[in-house]
Amino acid sequence: MNEISPVTEAKPVKVPTLPDAQTVTEVKHWTDRLFSFRVTRPASLRFRSGEFVMIGLMQTDEKTGREKPLLRAYSIASPSWDEELEFYSIKVQDGPLTSRLQHIAPGDQIILRPKPVGTLVHDALLPGKRIWFFATGTGFAPFASLLREPQTYEDYDEVIITHTCREVGELAYGAEIIESLKHDELLNEVIGEGFWKKVKYYPTTTREESPKMGRITDLMRSGEAFADLGTTPLCPENDRAMICGNLAFNLELKEMLEEYGLEEGANSDPKQYVVEKAFLD
Ligand code: A2P
Repeated sequence: MNEISPVTEAKPVKVPTLPDAQTVTEVKHWTDRLFSFRVTRPASLRFRSGEFVMIGLMQTDEKTGREKPLLRAYSIASPSWDEELEFYSIKVQDGPLTSRLQHIAPGDQIILRPKPVGTLVHDALLPGKRIWFFATGTGFAPFASLLREPQTYEDYDEVIITHTCREVGELAYGAEIIESLKHDELLNEVIGEGFWKKVKYYPTTTREESPKMGRITDLMRSGEAFADLGTTPLCPENDRAMICGNLAFNLELKEMLEEYGLEEGANSDPKQYVVEKAFLD
């Protein structure tokens, strides 16, 4: 008789999985300081174009040796209707998160907490005729979402996006989004004829030669920006604005908008403009 060896129950092997894991589907490097990437979208995630979520990677806690999530706030750069989620990020060589995040590749996993929040949403603004999106650097991200959102063109007659960066290469991501709008079937139905009449794109650089040089704040103060755009300065009756950039830029522009008579709004108290700080690792 054959001896029957006792069957040992295989113990479940504990494979460490990321909490709230999403899979990277695409990564694009724009400059040695900037990259964008797309990840799968949780089926249950609903968000309003312009909002941000916390994303990140696991890291080892130096004291306990335990793995714990390292998360940062990132604006969702894709519009609310998109099947995937897109993010636009800086690469900081010694930044705790982006020094590692910049090496992600399709198939890798990241952590995404599915709780979108933020003030750069249409609900935080009163109805108006014209909307201004003011960005510096990676502050373009929430506008990459809002520019691809049909509601933006339903709510406003004119959409003006300004983007100030140090160097020309840093404008590439934004320029490609603007170019893609012209070929977007969904938006074309809403925008109709005369794309450039409705959408005005004003890219400027401050540290490298380009067709338009200078900080947007200075270009507005001198009146040059309005002359270039063929528009009038902002007024509280018609104009609405969203600001997203580095802290100094946000503060300076906020002050300028207040001088034009615009007031800061919030989700619970919509007014004429809203502000959010771009993520910096
Ligand atoms: P500048 O080169 O004159 O500092 P950063 O990469 O440091 O976040 O800056 C992004 C862009 O924002 C740069 O072109 C920078 O111009 C510009 N910037 C920085 N501070 C301000 C500000 N207070 N007002 C307007 N633009 C600013």
